Amino acid sequence: MIEKKNNHFEFRKNVLHAEEISILELAKSTKTPFYIYSAGALEDSYNSLVYSLKELNHSLYYSVKSNSNVAVLRVLSLLGAGMDVVSSGEYLRARKAGVPGEKIVFSGVGKTFEEMILALKQGIRQFNVESIPEIYQLNLAASKVNKVAPVSIRVNPDVDAQTHKKIMTGKAENKFGIPIMLAEKVYEIAKNLENISIVGVDLHIGSQITHLAPFKEAFQKIAKLIYSLRNKGHNIKRVDIGGGLGISYSRAQGDPIPLKDFSSMLKSIFGGMDLEIQIEPGRYISGNSGLLISSVIYLKEGSSHNFLIIDAGMNDFIRPALYEANHDLIPIVSSMDEDPKIEVDVVGPICESSDVFVSKAVLPIMRAGDLIAIYSAGAYGAVMASEYNTRPLVPELIVKGNMSSIIRSRPNLFETINRDQIPYWLR
Ligand code: LLP
Repeated sequence: MIEKKNNHFEFRKNVLHAEEISILELAKSTKTPFYIYSAGALEDSYNSLVYSLKELNHSLYYSVKSNSNVAVLRVLSLLGAGMDVVSSGEYLRARKAGVPGEKIVFSGVGKTFEEMILALKQGIRQFNVESIPEIYQLNLAASKVNKVAPVSIRVNPDVDAQTHKKIMTGKAENKFGIPIMLAEKVYEIAKNLENISIVGVDLHIGSQITHLAPFKEAFQKIAKLIYSLRNKGHNIKRVDIGGGLGISYSRAQGDPIPLKDFSSMLKSIFGGMDLEIQIEPGRYISGNSGLLISSVIYLKEGSSHNFLIIDAGMNDFIRPALYEANHDLIPIVSSMDEDPKIEVDVVGPICESSDVFVSKAVLPIMRAGDLIAIYSAGAYGAVMASEYNTRPLVPELIVKGNMSSIIRSRPNLFETINRDQIPYWLR
């Protein structure tokens, strides 16, 4: 078993490094806040996942939505990863990273006609179809460009993924997939459409799943469905099991679901079914491969709380505000244990009370200009950022060994403002 290493962000002589590079040094040339990714960490998490699946006929489609920087996609595509995309934008990013259309899976509940045409023309491994109107529209799109669209139907197995309610997708009340009891009917419809070719079944029950049981329950339901579909003559070659593998958001802990337990569960359910198992992980690969680096603006002492106001805000990183997510926050220059500590709420500069990264953290006393790292920010960080409060999107950097590169630069403030125009009748 290849163990995922956790040593890509480590303290050396009391200074946090990304691989071989001092983050303190990097911050001298790149203004905070910025995201920093470790190519080694991306490679390690990808390799350990692929290795754990080696006894299964499998293929991996990295979920681009979790971190879609083209350089990140490039690291993974060089290792052989396929991509799971949900928009033409993500599709084109994957292509720019060098991924052929045949290694791209198109997911998403609201694909447009134009998106279907783009993927059909440029090449696609499969569409994960989520509704009856979508299957008709895809048939039409494919006939327009004289192609046959490869399709897996996304089935909603009505399973509670036991995760945050905003990121569970496999319950009957969620908008995703086709209810499992209607699935066979939809396969019948698809079978009779000339420009559709059925290749498999798809599901994705949620994200940041930390227990094996919901996966198991959902996969057992799907295996049963596959037997039944095959009995009715449908050509089910693949099962796409989605993403969702949880990670640890605490530096001190390992994976909540050990990979060997996940792969042996897969083997016990799908082994011997002559199926290709496709997996669409996002967070598992990118989550612990990135940090958000920020600087202290002020330490504000209040009557009941102290506030450490930092230059990253909820617009740059929304997970704590949106999902009550807890991320480790660590000063970049480590304090000696004897350094005085203080209880603080670490907050951003945005004019919203939800702009809080952590409440009641006990941290060494930090002063204006001191640097702090927000951990596990590689997934659903930069991709979910906005320009709220007219704050340009923050830069992204990647390191590999002793090399570091900016992979997205910070837009100039005037580029941001000048996108707006005053109409002639207001001049
Ligand atoms: N496949 C499909 C169809 C998905 O919808 C998703 C994520 C994935 C794969 C990848 O899931 P992962 O392996 O990363 O769990 N913004 C939220 C997470 C939203 C996940 C959306 N779908 C967060 O920050 O927790």
